[in-house]
Amino acid sequence: ISSNYQLSNGQMIPVVGFGTWQAPDGNVAEKAVLDALEAGYRHIDTAAIYKNEASVGRAIKKSGIKREELFLTTKLWNDSHSYEKATKAIDDSLKRLDVDYVDLYLIHWPNPVDIRGEYSKWNAESWQAMEEAVEAGKIKSIGVSNFHPHHLEELLKTARIKPVVNQIFLNPSDHQAKIVEFCQKQDILLEAYSPLGTGEILGLNELNDIAKRYNKTSAQVVLRWSLQKGFLPLPKSVTPKRIKENLAIFDFELSKEDMALLAQLEGKAGFAKDPDNVDF
Ligand code: A2P
Repeated sequence: ISSNYQLSNGQMIPVVGFGTWQAPDGNVAEKAVLDALEAGYRHIDTAAIYKNEASVGRAIKKSGIKREELFLTTKLWNDSHSYEKATKAIDDSLKRLDVDYVDLYLIHWPNPVDIRGEYSKWNAESWQAMEEAVEAGKIKSIGVSNFHPHHLEELLKTARIKPVVNQIFLNPSDHQAKIVEFCQKQDILLEAYSPLGTGEILGLNELNDIAKRYNKTSAQVVLRWSLQKGFLPLPKSVTPKRIKENLAIFDFELSKEDMALLAQLEGKAGFAKDPDNVDF
């Protein structure tokens, strides 16, 4: 089982999380989460929009693992901004997950198309609802996802509780230098989604060469890169063998030279995309 990072509010968070994006609701997601829990993951990352919160909740129950031994994250979807809607969205997620609290709740996107341009107002309102849910014991920690520095700067103007996490697309093909530097200065932990570059990065020859030298897979090398950068990777898989493989990254260390080689993969498997393909 992996060790923890400490968030800026003192909470502990397991350094690898199991991503459930694109794990379809029903048996596939439920089985993947159960396999992950059995493999030793204690940190599960879902979101309202993944439509698999109920499956995640069922897997947790079936695993028999105590709630307090698990770190569970979910997210506010784009259609649920505003104080009232966010308050309800939090309760709805708790119901679907069938838990009394989540460990981490994130604003999923800073500036969704439907409310584009007014992000300061909407994020501030939703944030207030999230802060109250923290005070009510429904959420332990709150954070954001896909935020750029200008979104965070705005949020920090009104936030009473500081965001502890920013979850972004982050892997050796996309280093996200600006937002990474901003978050590190603010003591905001970077969680890496698509840490495997959605799988595309894994075929790169440069990467395969490094992996061979450590007797590890390319996926393990990329996840190890993430840890050594101080990030928290959230690999997603529905394949039992890969689920285990992605957690076996604590028995080796990449050399400085290989970290430098990996830094050169920037752009080789593409960059993050705004889902709406507009500057946000
Ligand atoms: P699958 O779920 O079918 O096992 P990311 O986490 O960067 O979004 O990448 C997820 C993608 O990478 C999924 O398509 C997943 O496939 C695949 N994947 C996950 N782990 C591994 C691994 N260890 N080796 C190869 N492919 C993997």
